Amino acid sequence: MESQYFDVYQSWKEDPERFWRAAAEKLDWSRPFDTVFDPNQGEYGRWFAGGETNTCHNCLDRHVQAGRGDEVAIIYDSPVTGAKQRFSYNAALTEVEAIAAVLKNHGVAKGDRVVIYMPMIPEAVFSMLACARLGAVHSVVFGGFAAHELATRIDDCQAKVVICASCGLEPGRVVPYKPLLDHAIDMATVKPEYCFILQRDQLHAPLRYEHGDVDLAHAVEVEKVNGTSVPCVPVQSTDPLYILYTSGTTGQPKGVVRDNGGHMVALNWTMENIYGVKPGEVFWAASDIGWVVGHSYIVYAPLLAGNATVIFEGKPIGTPDAGTFWRVVSDYDVKVLFTAPTAFRAIRREDPEGEHVQRYDLSGLRALFLAGERADPETIKWAERVLQVPVIDHWWQTETGWAIAANPAGLGLLPLKYGSPCVPMPGYAIEVLDDSGHAVANGTLGNIVAKLPLPPGCLVTFWNADARFRASCLDEFPGYYKTADAGMVDDDGYVFVMARTDDIINCAGHRLSTGAMEEVCAMHPDVAECAVIGIADELKGQIPCGFLVLKKNVNRDSNALFKEIVQLVRDEIGPVAAFKTVMVVERLPKTRSGKILRGTMQKIADGMPWKMPATIDDPAILDEISQVLRQNDMAKLAS
Ligand code: COA
Ligand code: AMP
Repeated sequence: MESQYFDVYQSWKEDPERFWRAAAEKLDWSRPFDTVFDPNQGEYGRWFAGGETNTCHNCLDRHVQAGRGDEVAIIYDSPVTGAKQRFSYNAALTEVEAIAAVLKNHGVAKGDRVVIYMPMIPEAVFSMLACARLGAVHSVVFGGFAAHELATRIDDCQAKVVICASCGLEPGRVVPYKPLLDHAIDMATVKPEYCFILQRDQLHAPLRYEHGDVDLAHAVEVEKVNGTSVPCVPVQSTDPLYILYTSGTTGQPKGVVRDNGGHMVALNWTMENIYGVKPGEVFWAASDIGWVVGHSYIVYAPLLAGNATVIFEGKPIGTPDAGTFWRVVSDYDVKVLFTAPTAFRAIRREDPEGEHVQRYDLSGLRALFLAGERADPETIKWAERVLQVPVIDHWWQTETGWAIAANPAGLGLLPLKYGSPCVPMPGYAIEVLDDSGHAVANGTLGNIVAKLPLPPGCLVTFWNADARFRASCLDEFPGYYKTADAGMVDDDGYVFVMARTDDIINCAGHRLSTGAMEEVCAMHPDVAECAVIGIADELKGQIPCGFLVLKKNVNRDSNALFKEIVQLVRDEIGPVAAFKTVMVVERLPKTRSGKILRGTMQKIADGMPWKMPATIDDPAILDEISQVLRQNDMAKLAS
């Protein structure tokens, strides 16, 4: 089919309001919006102002009321526990209403913040939807973060209650969540009124009833027996649906705020037009609900569009083998799979010939979408060869909530260019600017920016930090949103995303702040100063690598010191930081004004061409860095 992309993009460009109004009409509003876009509200305008709606209603009740209650909404498949379960839209609604009743009975109301710290289990999704039902604002914290990160989030959003599981399951180990939560609450300034704990069979947590712990499953059972019904609370289109914290350049994470109206309109539009799935079909985003991909494409978008979504509690390899993705695709007739390139690199490393693929019937699969990090052409070509379906790289961020650039399968695929996530989606007018804000010629590298206003579904601000939002995203290039990605656009309008312009790195599809890791390393009493950079890694894309300058009088076994520092980062940020590579250097290379030359260090570590920075204070230090890297065989693994 000839792609309709250009026509559709043009129709958006000519009349954005008509475009988004048509998309909004596919959803239910309890009060119609006054205007599609109000440029005078919020930081850059607000979508569907004056409208009232409820996201949970549009995800569940709307489909039940349309007679689709018996269709499958949620498939839970957990190779780490052996559990498999399906929930129809009716059943999902019952579960969500019961949790909403529990929350409501404990005083949770519209606007209250609820932190959710749970692994990939159905109750996590039900809890998110229960919050949406009440108009409460959820903030999901990824299970791989440690107590300090959890405490930071509880404090920042001033959580009224927390919903937590007793444990998560990583291959070969049980991760006790409850002690992490208790520790976080002890550390936090804000003390949540209640903690609802879901006891899992693999590890029961002792409950501190005197601190407000509640056994969630028991409370839910009581509500089910009572048959409590909890109607959806109408919220303003512009009211927050959730806060999702993401790494910034410092240890203080940024609370990305998503609204209700714009979010549901944009996500619903993407399912048919970008992913090309129809209601009733199975869509699987193999990610985690702790990340934006999980929020948008495990929970909200598939349910808004009336699809069945898969909650997979496992890994691409080792649970039990590199064929586990294909087993799930075949068992549930998944039509579209979405994951991070790193997952495919892991599978390819274990099964280079794709032998596991042959064991399953994948005839239903129509496309594979990749995002979260740059998709290297080798991985794409391998996936195309073994799966025999289009493999589509698309680019987005926690901030945007949905794809900025993609090859829209639903509108008809455009020709593929390896290394490019294809073309801007309607809603995004992408430009590339030099550091002084001037547009660069096609094919020239620069800062990728999106002309304001951002489309519906994108962040509206940072939680309680409008000034930080403006400073971080809007001020540098007036009239534009700064993506903090560098890249270019070619003559055909294809976008190429090459690197971040800040200190964020992408490790195994997880977004990490090297600045946050530096802050933790600097806490160690033996460390005078340090720099953390991301160095290229075959499997994870990038891994963090710490360069430490020790205090003058420190003279001790470096292995023991490395272990302490690695453990410190693991304890403070969490295992997800994957911080295992550390080396000691005499000095750090700096500019004459004292700025550490992290970019040059990274190029040296990656074996890339580099130029001596004109502003360098002492060029000899770069030779010292190269030498230490060589001595360490690129990296010193602290095991
Ligand atoms: N809870 C607790 N710990 C977690 C966790 C969670 N939810 N997720 C990861 N961790 C831990 C891991 O167990 C690991 O711990 P270890 O150092 O003790 O081994 C550490 O955090 C680093 O995890 P990761 O970087 O993910 O490496 P891995 O070796 O466990 O797995 C991959 C490697 C490639 C298989 C895995 O990263 C993967 O599936 N990535 C896809 C990521 C993704 O879906 N991203 C979302 C964007 S679409
Ligand atoms: P996150 O907020 O975790 O989704 O990470 C967003 C960042 O990941 C982006 O700013 C990019 O740097 C990177 N990223 C995501 N998708 C892609 C992609 N398809 N190609 C290149 N980089 C990507």
